[in-house]
Amino acid sequence: MFERLQKKWKVKGWQLALILITFTIGGSATGYIGKKLMPVFAIGPAWLWVLVYILLVTIIWPIAVLIVSIPLGQFPFFIKYIGKLGRRIGLGSSDVKRETSNVKRLTSDVSRFTHIAIFASGAGSNAQKIIDHFRDHAIAKISLIVCNNPAAGVLQIAAKEEIPVLLIEKDRFYKDDAYIKELNEYRIDLIVLAGFLWKIPVALLNMYPGRILNIHPALLPNYGGKGMYGQAVHEAVIKAGETESGITVHYVDEIYDNGKIIFQAHCPVLPADTADSLARRIHQLEHQHYPKVIERVVAGINEV
Ligand code: GRF
Repeated sequence: MFERLQKKWKVKGWQLALILITFTIGGSATGYIGKKLMPVFAIGPAWLWVLVYILLVTIIWPIAVLIVSIPLGQFPFFIKYIGKLGRRIGLGSSDVKRETSNVKRLTSDVSRFTHIAIFASGAGSNAQKIIDHFRDHAIAKISLIVCNNPAAGVLQIAAKEEIPVLLIEKDRFYKDDAYIKELNEYRIDLIVLAGFLWKIPVALLNMYPGRILNIHPALLPNYGGKGMYGQAVHEAVIKAGETESGITVHYVDEIYDNGKIIFQAHCPVLPADTADSLARRIHQLEHQHYPKVIERVVAGINEV
């Protein structure tokens, strides 16, 4: 059961434990406060008493779990969780949110999509495939491209596809969390890295627990880590005499190429291969699989 919840909520074991503790303490506090408040209403019939009690604890419960979640560091999870519950029962309609949002978009499609940000700073061939895959998609949309390189090819793709771009500078990325506000403005639910080389800061990891994916052009845990990107990876694979390489899609954590593996696909390394020829084969594999893996993760998010 715990494994199922972990998968469903895309959280690590320790985080699941904190979430369950929050539910327990928040639930108990709700029951306690509810009972203390009930005498104020002085209600006669038992059925009415029960009705008012249920109504009262329904109001108190979200407040209680949100308060408990703060010291346990789970506020980002619970604010989303309660938001989703609210939307399911028709509260906090997307119209209200739309009014407060300063993001200029068609309003009709806002509430039903998982909004994805692609972080890319290279040519952007993966970004293009992901954009193609999610064009007119029923449940997800590429809402933002985040880039750290003003000369990156992906910026032309963003312009052509009319996708907003957030160009970030190193200082701001690491020392200032203002960009988190901007990601919120675009209501980003999921971040996918596609050729983004900077390490993701802890503030962003905390904001998107289990919601940041990366693709690596080799079979992790081998040929990963700091400095292992682009041609360096393929050169190392060939130099080691491997007969097989591939791609790895994984969750991002605070260590380079270390997070939980979601998907791998293999391809041969041929005797005549150069880093370039292997890179081309790997790119094909990435284009074929990455969008579909992202789609599966999106489907998981929508089950919460
Ligand atoms: C891909 O090979 C990916 O594995 C790595 O960066 C590369 C990006 O290529 N993380 P492109 O910019 O998508 O063409």
